[in-house]
Amino acid sequence: MSPALVSEVQTICKEDELVESHEYHKGVKHLCGRGLKKLPRKYILPALERPLLSTKDGATNLKLPIIDIAQLQGPDRVHALESLSKACQEYGFFQLINHGIASESVLDMIQAARKFFELPFEERSKYMSKDQSAPVRYGTSFNQNKDRVFCWRDFIKLNCHPLSDVLPHWPSSPAELRQAVVNYSKETRSLYLMLAKAILESLGLVETEKDIDENGSCDLLKEFEDGSQLIVANFYPSCPEPDLTLGIPPHSDYGFLTLLLPDEEVKGLQIQHEGRWVTVEPVPNSFVVNVGDHLEIFSNGKYRSVLHRVLVNPLKSRMSIASLHTLPFNSMIRPSPKLVNDANPRRYKDTDFATFIQYMASHEHKNKNFLESRRLTQLGDA
Ligand code: OGA
Ligand code: NI
Repeated sequence: MSPALVSEVQTICKEDELVESHEYHKGVKHLCGRGLKKLPRKYILPALERPLLSTKDGATNLKLPIIDIAQLQGPDRVHALESLSKACQEYGFFQLINHGIASESVLDMIQAARKFFELPFEERSKYMSKDQSAPVRYGTSFNQNKDRVFCWRDFIKLNCHPLSDVLPHWPSSPAELRQAVVNYSKETRSLYLMLAKAILESLGLVETEKDIDENGSCDLLKEFEDGSQLIVANFYPSCPEPDLTLGIPPHSDYGFLTLLLPDEEVKGLQIQHEGRWVTVEPVPNSFVVNVGDHLEIFSNGKYRSVLHRVLVNPLKSRMSIASLHTLPFNSMIRPSPKLVNDANPRRYKDTDFATFIQYMASHEHKNKNFLESRRLTQLGDA
């Protein structure tokens, strides 16, 4: 070992001595309170999984396709549906503008989440739980009971449906959190339903929006309306060695669609596009929306969930709010029968939440491995 390497290893070990293993479970914000200058070994990814910030991969920015809700709800819907379908097939991601959610609701949500992460650790830790379906769960990393290497993120996850059942379990501090999440979850939920209807129409599963309104009893839509919703506030403290770790490792989201409010000032979200990692450029007053695994299954592989990850920053902390939507907790997710035929055979097994939760509890997360486990046939690249 070269003298430089020996000295580096010694420094890393010294940092590690300061931090006993159970301390990592208290989260990165707690860890940073110690004024770290080096990344503890627990967070150092194997060389091949690191983000390569100094190469082109770290510097390529991408503007996502834009979907305009006003256009989708207006006379040019047919055209907007084509753009939506193209974005879902080519990127698995799009930028949603003119969403109509009051900026007050958005700002209140961001402010409440920020205040939550500023609470003393003892207050935040009341909500730590291993139960993946708890109404509220505070934690760190990606799947902290399974991850060998931890990632540089703390989170609070709030189940939002049905509101009256979950609300009493949500944090009572900061005082404004409950109301802010109620407002924000209702607004994002109705935006999601608008998008879900458009997606069903773009897949040819319902004829026109008028059709949906007239046949309001459509079973499929009822299921969507009663769907589950999880709001996740992610906090990524500034990181002393951002080239050695990630805020969230490559993953796809499990649900039907995710509506993400990225930090408007600090970049960090990267998606895999045409075989490389590209950084999504933040667009003010908009949502980043992405296809989740359940939509990939439901569309029988026509719209695929896309791998994404989060870079961390040496100077600034970053916060994002994700709203994950899918069918009700007890529903079975399966390829829509209308999208299965001789030319396009069924590509996925039926999937329910219980299977997903069992999988997460017993496997270390890697890329899209849960979805792979549900696959019946390999998808071509076409
Ligand atoms: C997520 C996620 C991206 C971000 O919460 O699943 O991918 O920018 N977040 O924080
Ligand atoms: Ni995600």
